[in-house]
Amino acid sequence: MRIEHIINLKIDGGSCGIRTASSKFIRRMMKCMESRKFKLRNDREVTLRLLKIDDRDRLLDLFSTMSEKALEWGMPPYSEETIDRWLSNFERLIPLVTIYENRIVGFAAIFKHMHSRERGVADLGIYLHQDFHKIGLGTIMSETILGIAKNQGLHRIGLHVVEDNVVAVNLYKKVGFVIEGTMRDAYFGQDEKYHNMLVMGLLLQGKTTR
Ligand SMILES: CC(C)(COP(=O)(O)OP(=O)(O)OC[C@H]1O[C@@H](n2cnc3c(N)ncnc32)[C@H](O)[C@@H]1OP(=O)(O)O)[C@@H](O)C(=O)NCCC(=O)NCCS
Repeated sequence: MRIEHIINLKIDGGSCGIRTASSKFIRRMMKCMESRKFKLRNDREVTLRLLKIDDRDRLLDLFSTMSEKALEWGMPPYSEETIDRWLSNFERLIPLVTIYENRIVGFAAIFKHMHSRERGVADLGIYLHQDFHKIGLGTIMSETILGIAKNQGLHRIGLHVVEDNVVAVNLYKKVGFVIEGTMRDAYFGQDEKYHNMLVMGLLLQGKTTR
């Protein structure tokens, strides 16, 4: 499913003026985006929606059931403390989840930088349960969350990804990110070897710097 198919989600963060805090913030955001069911390449029907405060246990469950392989290039552990820190920072988060049979099987989040000198700048992270890899879900979630970010007026989305995480690098390129640089040996892997980390970025509102 391409971006034109998910436009029906009625993502409209900009006109909703989403700039406020906490639960009020997320309630307003929810009004701006209906949940939407869609079929993946393997015919499973899933629902895409924004994260709710009471999703905490489902989110913990996602990370605690992700395989070592799925977390191979991540930054584990994704502990209760980490997840609670994310949830306590709703005002700087665009949190999107995919639900399958009442479980969260995908989580994508944009973390907005809060310093005034980094206005409109944010980072993207995405994690899918291993049973939902390589069937198009990463593409759908990335395109959707970038659509929300653009409508909210965010300027730049950046990320760091291990160079050997080929599927992730290809996904990010597919949705418009470009490689901006390489941090040599910046990641120490499960294999006890150093790996290069790529810096990737996407300008949402057009380039303004030379
Ligand atoms: C990385 C991740 C989000 C990708 O999502 P996904 O749903 O598996 O990816 P998609 O099925 O949407 O595929 C996206 C693109 O990846 C690339 N890709 C998919 N399978 C691939 C493979 N076996 N080899 C190389 N590239 C592949 C393709 O370019 C594909 O686009 P296409 O379908 O148009 O060919 C997902 O695999 C994941 O959650 N991995 C574990 C956590 C992680 O590494 N997160 C990123 C941390 S920076």
